[in-house]
Amino acid sequence: MSKHHVTTTINGEPVEFLCEPQLTLLDVLRDDLHMTGSKEGCSSGDCGACSVTVDGRLVCSCLMLAVEAEGRKIETIEGMARGDELHPLQRKFLEHAALQCGFCTPGLLIAAKALLDRNPDPSETEARYWLAGNLCRCTGYDKVIRAVLDAAAEMRGA
Ligand code: FES
Ligand code: FES
Repeated sequence: MSKHHVTTTINGEPVEFLCEPQLTLLDVLRDDLHMTGSKEGCSSGDCGACSVTVDGRLVCSCLMLAVEAEGRKIETIEGMARGDELHPLQRKFLEHAALQCGFCTPGLLIAAKALLDRNPDPSETEARYWLAGNLCRCTGYDKVIRAVLDAAAEMRGA
């Protein structure tokens, strides 16, 4: 099958790749670009482990074809920290012990960042609704929500 040439931007860096038309963005991120932070939990849009943002919109990368990345700006978990400096959400997840196996964590962090980019002061209910598409089998959700609200407060300077 012939491959498509895709030019995109990932975490602020220009990226080009060749891919077969049926491959998902998650396939290419993990298998070709070796960005394995985005996880494959269900491959059907149900778990949120593969979450990335595309032009600022939260999407499941398992449901997006890689060829649709052409000309887009993609943010993945690999772009969240600045060198050794963790994003406040990452720091608060650690402080609140909001993870166990960590499989869901990259998706939760990407989704939480997308929430705070839109709404810097979400209520607990808003945060719970926003993150309802990110499933965690280990930790439960209370610590995650506490971490997100704490990070939001710190980012607002509260
Ligand atoms: S792997 Fe994409 S939503 Fe579960
Ligand atoms: S920490 Fe294991 S699935 Fe969430």
